[in-house]
Amino acid sequence: MAYEIKFPENFLWGGATAANQIEGAYNEAGKGLSNNDVIERIKPEDRKKLHLPFPSTEEVKEALRDEASRHFPKRYGIDFYHRYKEDIALFKELGFKAFRLSIAWTRIFPNGDEAEPNEAGLAYYDELFDELLKNGIEPVVTLSHYEMPLHLSMEYGGWTNRKTIDFFTRYAKTVLNRFKDKVKYWITFNEINSILMSPFISGGFLRDQVKEEEVLQASFQAAHHQLVASARAVEACRRLVPGGKIGCMVLGMLNYSNTPHPGDMLAALQDQHKTFFFTDVHVRGHYPAYMNRFFHENNITIEMAPEDDQVLKENLVDFVSLSYYMSTVSARPETAGEQAAGNILTNLKNPYLEASDWGWQIDPTGLRTLLNMFYERYEKPLFVVENGLGAFDKVEEDGSIHDQYRIDYLGRHIAAMKEAVGDGVDLMGYTAWGPIDLVSFSTSEMSKRYGFIYVDLDDDGKGTLARSKKNSFAWYQNVIATNGEEL
Ligand code: BG6
Repeated sequence: MAYEIKFPENFLWGGATAANQIEGAYNEAGKGLSNNDVIERIKPEDRKKLHLPFPSTEEVKEALRDEASRHFPKRYGIDFYHRYKEDIALFKELGFKAFRLSIAWTRIFPNGDEAEPNEAGLAYYDELFDELLKNGIEPVVTLSHYEMPLHLSMEYGGWTNRKTIDFFTRYAKTVLNRFKDKVKYWITFNEINSILMSPFISGGFLRDQVKEEEVLQASFQAAHHQLVASARAVEACRRLVPGGKIGCMVLGMLNYSNTPHPGDMLAALQDQHKTFFFTDVHVRGHYPAYMNRFFHENNITIEMAPEDDQVLKENLVDFVSLSYYMSTVSARPETAGEQAAGNILTNLKNPYLEASDWGWQIDPTGLRTLLNMFYERYEKPLFVVENGLGAFDKVEEDGSIHDQYRIDYLGRHIAAMKEAVGDGVDLMGYTAWGPIDLVSFSTSEMSKRYGFIYVDLDDDGKGTLARSKKNSFAWYQNVIATNGEEL
């Protein structure tokens, strides 16, 4: 008889988004500019290239001067800011138990270094959370999802500056306190491990602020500041939010060994450490020993304040959340191999895997493996807070969208997740990425669509913004209604 596996009751099924990819209204109700407001759409021919912007101060100023002739899609998103009631009604129809969204820091502290918050920004999220709760949907809120006040980048060097910990802590305490009765699930930093690859969007610093040969050093210093800030947010959540749960979040990447060569296996382990480093600190409360050698061999010295050890040690997360889109392959440095595509972290191509339209390697079994690895390491509840397929969708003459490829992708990943539950993994929930089409993080395109809900908007920002249901809508509705029994 087959081993019986069921998703837990109260499993948090839903969808996930980020403020800067959906809200728009970038200059309304006192909002300040965030670093994603100065990011342009990439050229279609660069779709499969790794695109991690690292502008100079002058380039940012240029973007601000030359607004009219350029297109910055994240300023406009999908106009969720104004249309959230309509969108939440659709999420309710899908049967969502949870909706992951982020607060735009710049709506609350427009420049980041003000003493007092912007009431209009707080009032907006008050209404938004009320609307979710009214519809029986639990908000899962990320404090920082790929945006910070641009002013903090320009004037302070973003997360390389220790002062940013205090600015963030003030922001975190403000929203934790304000929304303590409405929001019970909190996440500190989206894909915190991305900071090692993405200096501007995750680290908040500009190219001319750091010498080229010191970017890695600066990134680890920024990472340290974020880890301390994350622990401070955990501390504040414990104190301010009755019954609250707060977790960390990493880009979940599984690194296969290219061959059985021991050197390849070692490379895979060392690449895996670059993700585990961040979760190890959040769950165990101290820097893992394997980093000492890495820091020594790469001339990295992290400046720490005397209290940092204690802050990290005392404020451990309640759960570990992760995104998962693909896996990759690691090899000895001298190995020549074809690079696979991805948005932040990627390495070699895997001959056993197919890839998406954007070249991301599709690997549902990898999700099962990765969940097992995380759970064995920490024995903490896990939460898959992003997973999805970015694909081109075709609207038929009658308006229907037959996105069977999306159903296949998601169905296979949910099945793999279920296997992980069968392996003993304590899984809290699953929020599919981009339940409604949104602006792509890495390419700022609209044509890279993830949603169950189609948004009539093209890459140039043209369209009616009307929402419509794809075939995957009814499919996901049934997945949730059957608690993952029917895929
Ligand atoms: C994750 C991010 O890395 O991947 C999201 O947390 C992002 O913000 C998602 O949108 C998908 O990536 P992309 O580049 O296809 O939008």
